[in-house]
Amino acid sequence: MTMAETDAGSRLRRLHWYGDLYSEAIRSGRGPLFLCRADGWMLPLEIERWCAAADEVDQEVLRRCHGTVLDIGCGPGRFAAALRARRHEVLGIDVSAVAVQRTRDNGANALRLSVYDRLPGEGDWDTTLLMDGNIGIGGDPAALLRRIADITVPNGLLLVEVATVDVDERVTVHLADSSGGRGDHFAWARVGVEALSRLARPIGWRLDDHWTVDGRAFAALRAPSPPQHEEGRDRDRGRGLGAQPPADPRQ
Ligand SMILES: C[S@@+](CC[C@H](N)C(=O)[O-])C[C@H]1O[C@@H](n2cnc3c(N)ncnc32)[C@H](O)[C@@H]1O
Repeated sequence: MTMAETDAGSRLRRLHWYGDLYSEAIRSGRGPLFLCRADGWMLPLEIERWCAAADEVDQEVLRRCHGTVLDIGCGPGRFAAALRARRHEVLGIDVSAVAVQRTRDNGANALRLSVYDRLPGEGDWDTTLLMDGNIGIGGDPAALLRRIADITVPNGLLLVEVATVDVDERVTVHLADSSGGRGDHFAWARVGVEALSRLARPIGWRLDDHWTVDGRAFAALRAPSPPQHEEGRDRDRGRGLGAQPPADPRQ
């Protein structure tokens, strides 16, 4: 890990998902909590659903997981807990201390780490998860996909929950509650399956499948196989686009 990554990581810890609004919502298991854009658009975050057990829609994701599973941005850990119950070796990672604690309370392993930190088992995870809009982490989906290509085993599986509409947007957002509480600004992204496939292809990810259930949409991607992976990484390094954390330390 470079010094720049470490600095970015430590600045990161003071901002957004680390803050009180998200912690309080996850601790209490209740919203309302919103992701707000500068133009007034507000996305309600489904805190109650995230804090409950995996539901019917989640089951299809769970069914597709194989081998060892890394749940990136695990929140309170409903996927990690359900996977553990299914006897998978599973680790949740999240930047929120409260989310990590809740995941552990739910019986699953979790570590307080950013996806851009050095992770246990780098390159060996059979399945990686980006649920509940987590492809938005850092506001740069291509950078995140490159990073996850380094984490996932060659030809491994990445399951992503995507936007239900054909969108490809990079936005600055903040968290807000219903009583005037407001967090710091941070970068986020939303992508539908078309945009995900377009962004993933040059990195060597292959779209395997996509499905929609009950108003939620998902995609399954296959990780770069070794030669493509190496070529992709060399090409990306040449353009200065390797798996670095987003330039803005708030991400
Ligand atoms: C949209 S919420 C998703 C909630 C979660 N999937 C669940 O089951 O409850 C985003 C989650 O990603 C976490 N997160 C944000 N940035 C992250 C990063 N760089 N690395 C790991 N987790 C991160 C947040 O703390 C938050 O728990």
